[in-house]
Amino acid sequence: MFNKTNREVKVYSTLDELCKAAAEEFIRCAQTAIAQENRFAVVLAGGNTPQTLYKLLARDYGTKIEWQRVHFFWGDERYVPFDSPQSNYKMAKELLLDVLKIPASNMYPMPTYFPDPADAAIKYEHTLKNFFVGKNPQFDLILLGVGTDGHTASLFPSNAALEEKKAWVVSVRAEVNPPVRLSLTLPVINSAQNIFFLVAGEEKKNVVEAILERPEEAQQQFPAALVRTNGRLTMFIDEKARGKSTT
Ligand code: 6PG
Repeated sequence: MFNKTNREVKVYSTLDELCKAAAEEFIRCAQTAIAQENRFAVVLAGGNTPQTLYKLLARDYGTKIEWQRVHFFWGDERYVPFDSPQSNYKMAKELLLDVLKIPASNMYPMPTYFPDPADAAIKYEHTLKNFFVGKNPQFDLILLGVGTDGHTASLFPSNAALEEKKAWVVSVRAEVNPPVRLSLTLPVINSAQNIFFLVAGEEKKNVVEAILERPEEAQQQFPAALVRTNGRLTMFIDEKARGKSTT
């Protein structure tokens, strides 16, 4: 359900170039939000692709914005302890947040310590409600990835979570490792001012091609194709994932 008018597709030869461009845009979004609202609310993605972006932001952008005004949330989380090597929170904390000395009060990890993950989803929704006080959630920026099966955040193909219209956060069980996840829902994702997809690697080529060239068909198969916003959606893709050369 991409709205063609506000979607930009940018293709880069390497993951480093892709991440450099995404870092520049990240900083621009942050500057705008901080100038307008005195804070920047960003949702981080898990997986491998954003790790290069996090390292780059930590290494080269430490003085470009007031990082103390940035509030970090997560789009999805594997239901594992915070210190697990599979934790999306741990990954971003180590590569980005700790390096930039982000105060703990600006980090909003998805809780993974409830015996029932459904309770964790409710708890995180409360966390969002406290942050957005009386308003619907509207993040300044949401970073997302795309899986080879077309999933995004932890919204997997044919999963009931895709139908969720009311809850802001859901617990999800899917045939992946680890199988239990928490995820923001489509209504929350699609309310963002800015959405960046970071997509790299040849194994994503078929999904990317379908999303860009056969959107209606893609919407039936790939959750990532259901992401849209009235704001701005940018797809940062490397040549391997696009299956074409930029030249
Ligand atoms: C996760 C992610 C997930 C990820 C995609 C792409 O926790 O696994 O948040 O949605 O973004 O699977 O991951 P890669 O960048 O590793 O391909």
